Amino acid sequence: MRSVDLGFEHRYLPATDPASPRTLLLLHGTGGGESDLLPLGEAIAPGAARLSPRGKVLERGMPRFFRRIAEGVFDLDDLRFRTHELADFIQAAADVYPLAGRKLIAVGLSNGANIAASLLLLRPEILDGAILLRPMVPLIPDPLPDLSNVPVFIGAGRGDPIVSPAQTAELVELLQRAGAQVSVHWGPGGHGLTIDDVNAARAWLG
Ligand code: MLT
Repeated sequence: MRSVDLGFEHRYLPATDPASPRTLLLLHGTGGGESDLLPLGEAIAPGAARLSPRGKVLERGMPRFFRRIAEGVFDLDDLRFRTHELADFIQAAADVYPLAGRKLIAVGLSNGANIAASLLLLRPEILDGAILLRPMVPLIPDPLPDLSNVPVFIGAGRGDPIVSPAQTAELVELLQRAGAQVSVHWGPGGHGLTIDDVNAARAWLG
């Protein structure tokens, strides 16, 4: 389904399994777009509805969800602004698409995982859970939100040249301090996804 103007270019695909209990919010990596993660969403949660926005920041023509100053160094003012902008889009989308009554689970890859983590930390009312694939610590809010019992899956790559194991451990600790139920899966890959990530995320979702 092509969509109405909610401030973000996006795609919404309704559930093909009416019994599916969730909608996936698909958040692409740097240089991606709103169609990129649709197959990943179907592989992780077959039959689930999918809402997939395109990041509005351009870095040398490549869409992202927020500005960065360098690799792994984020423009925190822009990150905060873009996180609220995305949260408001999701709330507006709930007036147009049948999101109510289904859990909203983010599936974010790299830059998309970072804005998903930022959504958890700054707008904890938006997501019911998240699958973060190759995330970093986006920011550290003060005070921490209450993420009691929010399930979070982190897919980390043992050979990731961009996200260090220490960075992953710091994110796990931050989310746990906020009360989230965090599961970490260490796969054999680098910063890119492998089938191992897909299988682990699908098994985690159940
Ligand atoms: C990316 O390439 O997108 C980075 O590794 C993550 C980010 O900048 O948010």
